Amino acid sequence: MKKPLLMIPGPCTVNEEVLAEMSRPLAPHYGEEWVREYNETRNALKPLLGTKEEIYLTVGSGHAGVEVAVNGLAGAGEKLLVVDNGFFGARIAWIARNYGIETVFVKEEWGRPVDPAAVEMVLKRERDIKAVAVVHGETSTGVLNPVKEISEVTQKYGVPLFVDAICSIGATEFFMDEWGVDVCVTASQKGLSAPPGLAIIAVSEKAWQVIADKKSSPVGWYLNLKVWREFEEKQRDFQPYGITMAVNNVRALKVSLNQIYQEGLEQRYNRHREISRRLREGLASMGLEPLAAGNPLPLVTAVKCPPGVKSGEIVSFLKEKHEIYISGGLGAYKESTFRVGHMGPGANQEAVECFLGALEEFLNRSM
Ligand SMILES: Cc1ncc(COP(=O)(O)O)c(C=O)c1O
Repeated sequence: MKKPLLMIPGPCTVNEEVLAEMSRPLAPHYGEEWVREYNETRNALKPLLGTKEEIYLTVGSGHAGVEVAVNGLAGAGEKLLVVDNGFFGARIAWIARNYGIETVFVKEEWGRPVDPAAVEMVLKRERDIKAVAVVHGETSTGVLNPVKEISEVTQKYGVPLFVDAICSIGATEFFMDEWGVDVCVTASQKGLSAPPGLAIIAVSEKAWQVIADKKSSPVGWYLNLKVWREFEEKQRDFQPYGITMAVNNVRALKVSLNQIYQEGLEQRYNRHREISRRLREGLASMGLEPLAAGNPLPLVTAVKCPPGVKSGEIVSFLKEKHEIYISGGLGAYKESTFRVGHMGPGANQEAVECFLGALEEFLNRSM
């Protein structure tokens, strides 16, 4: 097994051909030739997001995408309903508050998927909610939230739905148009298996209408969907954005997308499910339990530490003795859980067995 082994909850191991794109000579980030290549990459993302809408990219990590979505859908003094059953749900609310947006919550215990009926209860009670935000794959707990069912509820109440799919797209099914999601955000470095650096956003016609009708929002320039659309419309064939695009990152992403299609989406999604199943099986044989009580996210598993063991001890042991990088928990579960990423090229049997073997060695030493 090639070491070090990157099994953190993203970024994931990136294939050599993808990585090679990062060291190619720089090229202009504008011009017909480049725009053709850029558009090919954007179009190649569409089946993975399950959309026919235009895809927008920006230079930034996933948070840039979350910020652009929140800034687009609600404004200062308006209400955003945030589904919060993990660290990244809470993060959306923090971002929203910094824009002066009022946050209302549907909370669920960490490790449990959110019940769409709980979302409906709040939408029924509070008629002035401007948008609903939910994380699809909660990286902090390893839970996949039921976006399709939540979207049925938000559509019933005519409220736009924003989904943070940063840790799911590329390695598990996502059908933005079919499910009725209005703004979908992902990033280059997890399920899409390219280096970090690009935020990826798709916006439904309904959401564009909401944005167009607003007086107060979006604010700012860099993370402002109205500005993005203006550039797209005015400079479509030359430079469909106002910034210096990260050309090498886009090229690396394109190579990764080609590899994803070579494998086939169904096969890729099944591989991730199978690897996460095998990992949970291996953990169970050592008496360890995942934090996720249902709907496991096939890219990341959060595991409860054995009694008396802190996650940092496991993380350090694997790194020092085996050159395997995993990570500790987040929030209240920082020390009591550890998290293992198994996504992209890293979602393979050999890596999982190697990790399980090293973990077993740790448990045998410390018991
Ligand atoms: C579900 C989720 N949302 C948001 C983020 C933030 O993304 P980034 O670190 O790329 O800004 C992450 C990253 O771990 C994530 O997993």
